[in-house]
Amino acid sequence: MQQILLLCLSLLAHAVAAVAAAADGEARFGGRVLLPLRVQGAPPPPQAPANKLRFRHDVSLTVSVAVGTPPQNVTMVLDTGSELSWLLCNGTGTRAPAPPPPGPAAAFNASASSTYGAVRCPSPECQWRGRDLPVPPFCAAPPSNSCRVSLSYADASSADGVLAADTFLLGGAPPVPALFGCVTSYYSATGGRGSSGNATSSSQEAATGLLGMNRGSLSFVTQTATRRFAYCIGPGYGPGLLVLGGDGAALAPPLNYTPLIEISQPLPYFDRVAYSVQLEGIRVGAALLPIPKSVLAPDHTGAGQTMVDSGTQFTFLLADAYGVLKGEFLNQTRPLLAPLGEPGFVFQGAFDACFRAPEARVAAASRLLPEVGLVLRGAEVAVAGEKLLYRVPGERRGEGGAEAVWCLTFGNSDMAGMSAYVIGHHHQQNVWVEYDLLNGRVGFAPARCDLATQRLGSGA
Ligand SMILES: *[C@@H]1O[C@H](CO)[C@@H](O)[C@H](O)[C@H]1NC(C)=O
Ligand SMILES: *[C@@H]1O[C@H](CO)[C@@H](O)[C@H](O)[C@H]1NC(C)=O
Ligand SMILES: *[C@@H]1O[C@H](CO)[C@@H](O)[C@H](O)[C@H]1NC(C)=O
Ligand SMILES: *[C@@H]1O[C@H](CO)[C@@H](O)[C@H](O)[C@H]1NC(C)=O
Ligand SMILES: *[C@@H]1O[C@H](CO)[C@@H](O)[C@H](O)[C@H]1NC(C)=O
Repeated sequence: MQQILLLCLSLLAHAVAAVAAAADGEARFGGRVLLPLRVQGAPPPPQAPANKLRFRHDVSLTVSVAVGTPPQNVTMVLDTGSELSWLLCNGTGTRAPAPPPPGPAAAFNASASSTYGAVRCPSPECQWRGRDLPVPPFCAAPPSNSCRVSLSYADASSADGVLAADTFLLGGAPPVPALFGCVTSYYSATGGRGSSGNATSSSQEAATGLLGMNRGSLSFVTQTATRRFAYCIGPGYGPGLLVLGGDGAALAPPLNYTPLIEISQPLPYFDRVAYSVQLEGIRVGAALLPIPKSVLAPDHTGAGQTMVDSGTQFTFLLADAYGVLKGEFLNQTRPLLAPLGEPGFVFQGAFDACFRAPEARVAAASRLLPEVGLVLRGAEVAVAGEKLLYRVPGERRGEGGAEAVWCLTFGNSDMAGMSAYVIGHHHQQNVWVEYDLLNGRVGFAPARCDLATQRLGSGA
């Protein structure tokens, strides 16, 4: 998820000892930690309780984590596009749903954890560690001494809470202390947008929070001094794998690397803590689309950067590039698939290259569809077959609803109110993706993630 404004944390504190330990820069995942990754559908629209999570996207990439002492199992969205991790905490004033269901908790109960500590105001944790966040941390109005965080995402979803610390257990690794937002209210702006929430995954559980994995100083990666991590997202809704720390080379297929882009001066529309790479071209089949290089690079305001983001489902392209891709894709697929032909139809506010066809026809046509390649400096993300199209839930056309509605899984950033190219996780299925912070690069290689997951004994 692309984060626009964030965190308002605030004031003082008794620096939680655990936090101080986290700041010493020692790598926590020197040994390798393997974790199962799952893709799960967003929960159905909230019945009422304000503490139910919804995400904009139909599907999120999640990982199971245990937090606190004794450990509480929670499900967190893995998000390389944002900084501060957060957990839905049982909010003051909101009543928890009556019987806690088995499995991961719907909320983290802070008062049940002996290692939980709220960050107070003023304190270094509350002040300088929030420096990469678009909006500086702030202290709650006296007499409260809590350090407040307020996060907003590009889709206008937002979360509010307090900055806190506790221990996180990932896989079999020793517990690591980390700061996170203990969120007591969450608002999703997009309840009515796009799909009807017809979840396509095997799991209907809501995520309890989000694991912030970007390069900002408060991200989980930075706090735990993780130098390298990788994931392999299973095809369809199958299991995948997250590898934290260690020497990825031992497990990974041979990777093609693209350098992370750095800019020396802050620019208003450039996210300096994102995993930003250089897009050099877009191809459909063998031919590179006629898109000027200037359209693919950040401009003087920083708009037009390309980020690799596990927290966004699909891929977004700036309007000038999107228009060219859409024209070429519709043109090349005309013999295979009928365009939807409804100019007003836009899925999730950004996807308007859509088709109508029965499932069987799309299944047959999918291997004939032209491959779309995002050509990066030194690497490429290639999208082929079923990954190119998404069936819009709840939309049927034709006699007896024989036809489904499908949209190209590339959307228009401008229509979504974004000023960046975003490579989402849908297009990272069956790709080994390594974030190599030590060498400032991201590596990609095609992989059978279901097999990799089995082989590494993490087939959850
Ligand atoms: C948390 O998950 C672990 C591993 O799946 C399980 O052994 C443990 O019983 C769970 N704990 C709770 C409190 O549900
Ligand atoms: C969680 O609930 C307990 C009791 O219901 C309450 O004492 C505690 O303050 C709550 N925690 C938060 C962070 O709201
Ligand atoms: C949270 O934990 C506290 C202390 O164990 C307990 O009294 C309270 O009922 C719990 N709250 C919820 C909502 O489970
Ligand atoms: C579509 O393809 C045809 C030839 O296959 C070409 O003549 C035409 O210009 C193309 N149209 C667009 C909009 O690219
Ligand atoms: C999803 O939507 C389709 C079409 O509206 C419906 O036939 C199907 O039963 C739904 N599936 C679920 C799991 O709700």
